[in-house]
Amino acid sequence: MRHLDRRLLISQGEKLRSRWLSSRKIIERDERLGGHHFKSLPVVLRRAEGVYCWDTEGKRYIDLLAGFATVSQGHSHPRLVEAMRDQVAKLAHTSRAFYTEPHGELAEYLTAITGYERFLPMNTGVEAGDTALKIARRWGYRTKKIPSNKATTIFAKGNYWGRSLAALSASTDPNCYRDFGPYMPLFDSVTFDDLEALERKLQENPNVCAFMVEPIQGEAGVVIPSNGYLRGVRELCTKYNVLLVVDEVQTGLGRTGRRLAVDHEAVKPDLLVVGKALSGGMYPVSGVLGSSEMILALETGVHGSTFGGSPLGQRVALEALKILEEEKLAENAAKMGEIVRKELEKIPKDIALEFRGRGLLAGLQLNPDFANGWDICAKLINKGLLTRPAHNYIIRISPPLVINEEQIRVALNIITSTLLSHRKT
Ligand SMILES: Cc1ncc(COP(=O)(O)O)c(C=O)c1O
Repeated sequence: MRHLDRRLLISQGEKLRSRWLSSRKIIERDERLGGHHFKSLPVVLRRAEGVYCWDTEGKRYIDLLAGFATVSQGHSHPRLVEAMRDQVAKLAHTSRAFYTEPHGELAEYLTAITGYERFLPMNTGVEAGDTALKIARRWGYRTKKIPSNKATTIFAKGNYWGRSLAALSASTDPNCYRDFGPYMPLFDSVTFDDLEALERKLQENPNVCAFMVEPIQGEAGVVIPSNGYLRGVRELCTKYNVLLVVDEVQTGLGRTGRRLAVDHEAVKPDLLVVGKALSGGMYPVSGVLGSSEMILALETGVHGSTFGGSPLGQRVALEALKILEEEKLAENAAKMGEIVRKELEKIPKDIALEFRGRGLLAGLQLNPDFANGWDICAKLINKGLLTRPAHNYIIRISPPLVINEEQIRVALNIITSTLLSHRKT
């Protein structure tokens, strides 16, 4: 007991001290004690609500990043906070060793709105991608009858689905894969948005189990394929008896102005991977949607996760989905996305070479002769706007989907005025 009291006192003392630490000291501590694999912009956030975040000094920002397109429902949405509080006080974690109510409730809602038969929950996007690929290999061996250990998976060049060894084996970005070999065998890649190249690969190799693709390559810098690409991919996968695995971890659940990005072309993948906005940033929840044939390809005992399917995660995800649907956030993303497009397409070419976007997944490609993204993002932060660059020269614009017209116009004015005033320097 005395030991516990002491620990409590120490932790209260630490809390008190950290409350008064300056941003500089907080950053220094992170740099001293944490990993350096991720470079944060120099702002320390303490609190957030809706589309706004506040730093330790009380300065307010509009959040144009939303935790890498995750906090779609807005920060601390009252319904999510309430669901979280309620569930955490009732039953947070059991593992799938037992049945709980939220697991089936989430699956029931998610399958109903997406038209799939089953949902297999995991935690992070990369785990869900890995799960989908395990299903594809299983299907390849047992249904397509690919010879043992010969199943090939094809990915689109420029893909990003996380940082695990399997994901980096699929990557064509040296930052992801360099010096992490040896890589997963029989992972092949083909140019994104090139149906002929994909068909050649499928013709050459009868042992392909799956083609995995993002409808829009978010991390590659919001690369949008030509109209009809996804439909063409669907037709080729059907023609060559290959599973179409679509990674909607970033594009899914309203972000591009439709419930799913594949809805823009009315395409139904064999396996659909979701994550990020699925739980509104409250708790990592991801998963794979598919038919019974697909999802049950993983029979009892061959897959699992301590936290995947937890009552807390599933309850929060159910509420997060209901918010997206009931508040019509996909529709709002479409409307606000048009405003973003109209304004940012006006930026002169000496500043920005190109604007790319669909809904509220957008990127402004800076002219490399003008500035790099890191410097511009630092200036935007000074003016009260949070975002960060992709691939040095692309400014990401992926705010919470609850952003309204007044807020988005303020953000766009800040971007435009910052860029124009940078031109003068
Ligand atoms: C399309 C896509 N798939 C997968 C992932 C990986 O998700 P996580 O970081 O939750 O593992 C990401 C992350 O940005 C992503 O954009």
